[in-house]
Amino acid sequence: MTEHRITLLPRQGRDAAPPARVRDGERLTIKVLRYNPADPASVPHLQRYELEQSPGMTLFIALNEIRDRLDPSLQFDFVCRAGICGSCAMVINGRPTLACRTLTRDVGPEIVLAPLPVFELIGDLSVDTGKWMRAQSERLAAWVHLREDEPDLTRLEQRMEPELAERIFELDRCIECGCCVAACGTARMRADFVGAVGINKIARFRLDPRDTRDDAAFYELVGDDDGVFGCMSLLACHDVCPKDLPLQTQIAYVRRKMAAQGFGG
Ligand code: SF4
Ligand code: F3S
Ligand code: FES
Repeated sequence: MTEHRITLLPRQGRDAAPPARVRDGERLTIKVLRYNPADPASVPHLQRYELEQSPGMTLFIALNEIRDRLDPSLQFDFVCRAGICGSCAMVINGRPTLACRTLTRDVGPEIVLAPLPVFELIGDLSVDTGKWMRAQSERLAAWVHLREDEPDLTRLEQRMEPELAERIFELDRCIECGCCVAACGTARMRADFVGAVGINKIARFRLDPRDTRDDAAFYELVGDDDGVFGCMSLLACHDVCPKDLPLQTQIAYVRRKMAAQGFGG
């Protein structure tokens, strides 16, 4: 059984734990890139907030404190506070990551926050990753293509080797936070690039024995420059993924399979 670590960010690469940079009671300065695209008078600018570092403070706590005590107009997203929903991703000191899993003591005393690039900006730190992810899922037909149109729900569930189920689960852990897309140079240049998140999905459905699609069908979806051949192996996606998905391996694997398919199957 694979062990899945939950770590508090940030990390340099995947494993290094940074030393605490701020002690409890010390001052934190949080600068937020603010802009409201719905307001014609709004101009992008950095707004500065001062807070006191408290024990165990995460950026989720800090931003809520700012909104409660200092500035109710500040926009940002959180749902689960546990690294599960993916909604709190933002650029923290230049690195896309999850705010709810980031301790302020590790990234302070001065913290600069910006919204994820690539995705549609709603306002301040809030972006619409859902719209992007949904369009991408529809484009990749990211669901199991069963043999029958209507699955028979009264039938016993289909058996699967535990090892294979575990390999599929490993890739299914993606929370669609968008960090890999925001960190990717290709995604910044190509609006239709499927990104590591999309390539990972193809790898996931390719593994699934219930999915009837073959490599020719997957090639139709990602066998071009907006798909796996647009990836320049920059690997920032792999470095920033907060769920530690094996993106580097999956991208290389899908690329090899799609290249073989392109050269004649
Ligand atoms: Fe987030 Fe990782 Fe999924 Fe990309 S692959 S959307 S970084 S969880
Ligand atoms: Fe982008 Fe990752 Fe490829 S950062 S270029 S999808 S290796
Ligand atoms: Fe859900 Fe951070 S609030 S991942």
